[in-house]
Amino acid sequence: MEELYCAPGNAGIAQEAECLPVDLSQPKAILEVAKQVHADLTVVGPEAPLVAGIVDDFEKEGLAIVGPSKAAARLEGSKIFAKEFMQRHGIPTARFAVAENFGDALKALALFPLPVVVKADGLAAGKGVVVAHSREEAEQAIDDFMRRKTIGSAGDRVVIEDCLTGEETSFIVLTDGRGILPLVPTQDHKALLDEDRGPNTGGMGAYSDDSILSESLHDDILRSIVAPTLAGMEMEGAPYRGFLYCGLMLTAAGPMQLEYNVRMGDPETQPILMRLRSDLADLLQALREGQLAAVDAHWSPNPAVCVVLASQGYPGKPEVGNVITGYEAAEALGGVKIFHAGTRVEDHQLLTTGGRVLGVTAVAEDLPSAIQRAYAGVSKVQFQGMHYRTDIGAKGLRRLSSAREPKRPRAPRGERPSSRK
Ligand code: AMP
Ligand code: GLY
Repeated sequence: MEELYCAPGNAGIAQEAECLPVDLSQPKAILEVAKQVHADLTVVGPEAPLVAGIVDDFEKEGLAIVGPSKAAARLEGSKIFAKEFMQRHGIPTARFAVAENFGDALKALALFPLPVVVKADGLAAGKGVVVAHSREEAEQAIDDFMRRKTIGSAGDRVVIEDCLTGEETSFIVLTDGRGILPLVPTQDHKALLDEDRGPNTGGMGAYSDDSILSESLHDDILRSIVAPTLAGMEMEGAPYRGFLYCGLMLTAAGPMQLEYNVRMGDPETQPILMRLRSDLADLLQALREGQLAAVDAHWSPNPAVCVVLASQGYPGKPEVGNVITGYEAAEALGGVKIFHAGTRVEDHQLLTTGGRVLGVTAVAEDLPSAIQRAYAGVSKVQFQGMHYRTDIGAKGLRRLSSAREPKRPRAPRGERPSSRK
């Protein structure tokens, strides 16, 4: 790869790519930018342009692009589509009901035990899912989405579903529709505060370690979730190409699908890419040529950990415009890379521009060292109001220590839920 552009980019990626200003809500403008720089291949990061149909726009003009079509992007664009799709194809997922209006939502709610999950149908940038522990909280979420319109038309319709318990895993694959290339497994930390307390966010940190999934679970996920998803989309006339993110709950009854994202995850991508030894451009080129089945990705066996540094007020209204210092010292530690999110440079100073600001990411020979290295990086960085979780990767440490304990006999595995055909 000789030239790399990023639109619109930020102060971090500007060190590696030429940034081009663009309004991502304007598909025509994105197309123009790609034409201007004679892009051989465009990779779409966020979900909104995919759901709006940017891939169809590019393909109409004969431009190569990595991502699902508008029809395939409904897997993320509409939670109702995704749930009904899973039901049609026997993909294990939580029992659910769909409601088109406030009255029906309350009636449906009465049929579910607590805790219960209320989800807005449309895109809501991480604000569309409420795990409610009381009827009042669930009713409040339904009222917010359907009557107060707190997330606009995304909340016109809702899904109400059983709350699943277990550990969450983000399982992302790259696919050209035939070949499936699984990326290394990751675990996100959605809740704002340590020990998974506080409101959900876009993600406060993630780590990647092979111990997250045993080989048999890995195979089970491919067989019971990824393969039927791709076959189902093909069967419904919307073949899937691009990155497919399966947000899973590893329940006592086996892996179950919580959410699809039609892109890579943030912050999961940071630790994943730290472990990738193959050239990403080669993998994307193979996807473009429909040759993904013939390539293998090479990964470092070393775990990677990303700690997100967030602004005061996030995930509500973040304070912006604060000066960031110490990031160079953090990267000078070695084995540490800082991925930027909400940053910009003004008068030679790095400033905060959003809720999630930096992802301090480290790789090391084992998980404890990777965690320690990531937090050593964090300790160098400062901006006013900066906050972060102090327990990123702790679940992985617990898994490692329980694997070292003498084995007790395991309870027999429960039946898979009835949604599975
Ligand atoms: P998002 O991926 O932003 O839509 O956030 C969804 C998050 O809500 C998941 O990562 C889970 O933490 C939580 N969640 C969604 N559905 C369920 C469910 N059925 N049971 C338990 N937690 C859920
Ligand atoms: N980290 C979850 C997401 O990217 O949606």
